[in-house]
Amino acid sequence: MKKYNVGIIGATGMVGQRFALLLCDHPWFNVKILAASGRSAGKTYEEAVSGRWAMTSPIPENLKDITVLDAVKDMEDIAKAVDFVFCAVDMKKDEIKALEEAYAKLECPVVSNNSAHRHTDDVPMIIPEINADHLEIIEAQRKRLQTKKGFIAVKSNCSLQSYVPALYPIDQKFEIDKCLVCTYQAISGAGKTFERWPEMVDNVIPYIGGEEEKSELEPLKIWGKIENGKIVPATSPKFTAQCLRVPVSDGHMAAVFVSFKNKPSKDEIINIWKEFSGEPQALELPHAPKQFINYFYEDNMPQTKLNRNLEGGMAVSVGRLREDTQYDYKFVCLSHNTLRGAAGGAVLLAELLCAKGYMD
Ligand SMILES: NC(=O)c1ccc[n+]([C@@H]2O[C@H](COP(=O)([O-])OP(=O)(O)OC[C@H]3O[C@@H](n4cnc5c(N)ncnc54)[C@H](OP(=O)(O)O)[C@@H]3O)[C@@H](O)[C@H]2O)c1
Repeated sequence: MKKYNVGIIGATGMVGQRFALLLCDHPWFNVKILAASGRSAGKTYEEAVSGRWAMTSPIPENLKDITVLDAVKDMEDIAKAVDFVFCAVDMKKDEIKALEEAYAKLECPVVSNNSAHRHTDDVPMIIPEINADHLEIIEAQRKRLQTKKGFIAVKSNCSLQSYVPALYPIDQKFEIDKCLVCTYQAISGAGKTFERWPEMVDNVIPYIGGEEEKSELEPLKIWGKIENGKIVPATSPKFTAQCLRVPVSDGHMAAVFVSFKNKPSKDEIINIWKEFSGEPQALELPHAPKQFINYFYEDNMPQTKLNRNLEGGMAVSVGRLREDTQYDYKFVCLSHNTLRGAAGGAVLLAELLCAKGYMD
């Protein structure tokens, strides 16, 4: 595989720092540009993240001395210097939409962690093991943007990266009717650490702005179909969600209740999870977990602290599958919110896009 030059837009933030760690020694990607706001521009990366490096591993040596650019003012130079960019910025939605489209129109593809374009109907929102076929919509998007190479591809919200992978393959065979999910979400999902958010120690906050809507709606786009140059969201399964912030550094857990049109047996569900894999596994992409869904039989598993880093934080852990009195089944699942749920998911998506020729 050829090496691609890449940029990280929002490199100083929580997700950006994860990108830096995942990309600093990536076999296919060479980090050429780090960009953020005007507040960081002109500083070395080490200076720009000083006092707010939130990762347990140190700042990568090969990135420390790179001068951070301004993602807006230096856009043309950035777009020229790289094959594509990763984007994870904390800006207003309309500003992010405009920023990402501007990069795409400069023929610089954007692999985005932001929510701004998740419901743009010709922007694919991808969990690579599930709906890699939605990448075909890029052709229609390029027509709209009048680009040859530039496009935007996004990953879905971190809250649903544990339960959508668990539900999708069983729905394919047994048709889910409805699903209720309660998520227990880590503070890194808000770009925070306990030092920067001491109120979260010994506390639970029962509200995360916009998260319940995302957790209910985004799965329907992932389940959707391409029709006439648009991704048309599915109308079922029906989801209802409650999302809570819990005092955990990393790792989102979800308690799921599900009913089917054709109720499977417990063994049938577990076997589907064990056997499920997708294009990342078939293509042996560098960040593809070998076993995507891991079922734990112990009653007290999976646990956030023990299992969030499974397969480099790219695998999903599931457990406690049992019958329910109101729904057919209930179970719990877990994924790492800034790895599979954010930067890692975007890196896997970029690997898929490269392997399929979209970045050339
Ligand atoms: N944290 C997660 O688990 C997670 C998961 C999925 C998706 N996301 C999404 O990823 C995005 C970033 O989240 P985060 O947690 O990494 O946020 P964060 O820690 O607050 O970092 C925000 C980044 O955006 C940059 N930025 C802010 N204003 C800018 C501007 N006007 N122009 C250019 N860059 C600007 C910041 O640069 P400065 O340092 O220079 O201010 C910083 O690099 C958000 O859209 C979030 O919803 C986060």
